[in-house]
Amino acid sequence: MGQAVSLKCGSCGRVHKPAETKYTCLSCGGNVQLEYDYAALRGKLTRESLAKNPERGVARYLDLLPVAKKESLPPLQIGWTPLYNCPALAKLGGVKAAYVKDDGRNPSCSFKDRAGAVALARALETGEKIITAASTGNAASSMACLAASLGVKTIIFVPKTAPAAKITQLLVFGATVITVDGTYDDAFNLCIEASKEYGWYNRNTGYNPYTREGKKTVSFELCEQLATVPDVVFVPVGDGNIISGVWKGFVEFHKLGLIDRLPRLAAVQAEGSAAIKNAFEGDGKIKPVSGDTVADSISVSIPRDGHIAVNAIKESGGFAVSVPDADILKAIPALARASGVFAEPAAAASYAGFAAAAKQGRLKASDTAVLLVTGNGLKDINSAMKSVGAPHLIKPALSELKKLVSQQKIA
Ligand SMILES: Cc1ncc(COP(=O)(O)O)c(C=O)c1O
Ligand SMILES: [Zn+2]
Repeated sequence: MGQAVSLKCGSCGRVHKPAETKYTCLSCGGNVQLEYDYAALRGKLTRESLAKNPERGVARYLDLLPVAKKESLPPLQIGWTPLYNCPALAKLGGVKAAYVKDDGRNPSCSFKDRAGAVALARALETGEKIITAASTGNAASSMACLAASLGVKTIIFVPKTAPAAKITQLLVFGATVITVDGTYDDAFNLCIEASKEYGWYNRNTGYNPYTREGKKTVSFELCEQLATVPDVVFVPVGDGNIISGVWKGFVEFHKLGLIDRLPRLAAVQAEGSAAIKNAFEGDGKIKPVSGDTVADSISVSIPRDGHIAVNAIKESGGFAVSVPDADILKAIPALARASGVFAEPAAAASYAGFAAAAKQGRLKASDTAVLLVTGNGLKDINSAMKSVGAPHLIKPALSELKKLVSQQKIA
C-alpha cells in the first residue's frame, strides 16, 4: 500500500496533508508534489524485495504510489514497457549505448497511461464518480481507455484540431467528448472551470498532482531494466509533467538507496513550443509562447508544470534542446528504421533532440542514453506520411514488377 504522507508546494514550499488539497497549493496555487515516508520505506523496498516481486507494471511500485490497493488500478497492462538496445542510435549519437523505451506499447498507446492509472485509482479511492480531463489528445484518450476498463464515466475536452486517431479512441472508449474550438490551453482552462462548476474530478496535467506519481514509474523501470542508472534521458516536453515525474522517480530510488547516482535529463521541445527551454536557459520564469508545432502532444503555450520541470532539468545537471518541425517529421522514419519503433511526432522528438544534442557536443563517448518514446506512431499517421515517400503502384502482373526492378526503382 502507498504511503504518501504529504503534498509539498513546488513554489512556496507549503506542506499539505493528503486530504487537505486535491490539486494545487492552498497558499499560492502552485503545483504540489507528493512525499512519502522514505525512512520507513528504506528497509522495505529493497533490491531483494523487487527481485521477488512478480508484478510487471505500475503496481510493482505500489509502495511508492498513493494507491491503497492494487485493485483500484485499471486491470490493464500499464508500464513495464520494452527497453530496446539500439547500436545504430549509439553510433549516431557517438555514445557507448543508446536505448529506446517504447511507451507506445501501453494500452492506449501512450506514456499517459502511467499517469492516468494513478489519478484514476486516487479518484476511486476518494469516492469520485465522474472524471474530466483536457488534453492535447493522449492524456484524454488514455483516461477514456482506463476508465472504460473500470466502468467509470469520463467527460473530455480536446482542441478540435487533435489528431483523428486520438478523437476516435475517445469515442470508441465511450467518453463524452467535447471538442473545443480553440487551443489546448483554452480546453485546459474550460475543463478546470467545468470541474469546479460540476464537481467532476479533474485529471489535468500539471494540475492534478497524482499524474506525476504514475509518470515516475518509468524511471524505476529504467533502473531495473538496465540494472544501472542511465547517464542521460531524453524526454519530449510540453507541459513538463513527464520530465518532472521522470526526475522524481530517479530521486526517490536514490533516496531509498536503490541507485547510487542520478542521470542528466535532456528536455526536448519543438522550436515553436519551447517555453520550458526558454525559462531554463533564461531567468527561470515561464513566459507564454505560440505553441505552434506539428507535434500536437507537445504543443503548449503555457506549460502547466513548467516551474517544477525547469528545476528538474537544473537539479539533474541536464540541458534543453529545441528542434524544428522539419527535424521532428524526419525523425519519425529515422527512428523507426534505426530501432523498429514507430513514434508519433512528439515521441519522435526524442530522437531529433538526441541527434541535435550529439551535434552540439552535449553527449560523452562514455554515455548510456535513453530515448523515451512516449506515443505510438499510429496516433497521427498524417504527420508520418509527410516524411515518407508514396508507395510504388503497379498493375498486378509480373511484367510490371520486372519493369520496376529493371528501372532500378527497387533493390
Ligand atoms: C506523446 C507525448 N509525448 C510527450 C508529451 C509531453 O508531456 P508533458 O506535457 O508532461 O511535458 C505528451 C503529453 O501530452 C505526449 O502525449
Ligand atoms: Zn505554494
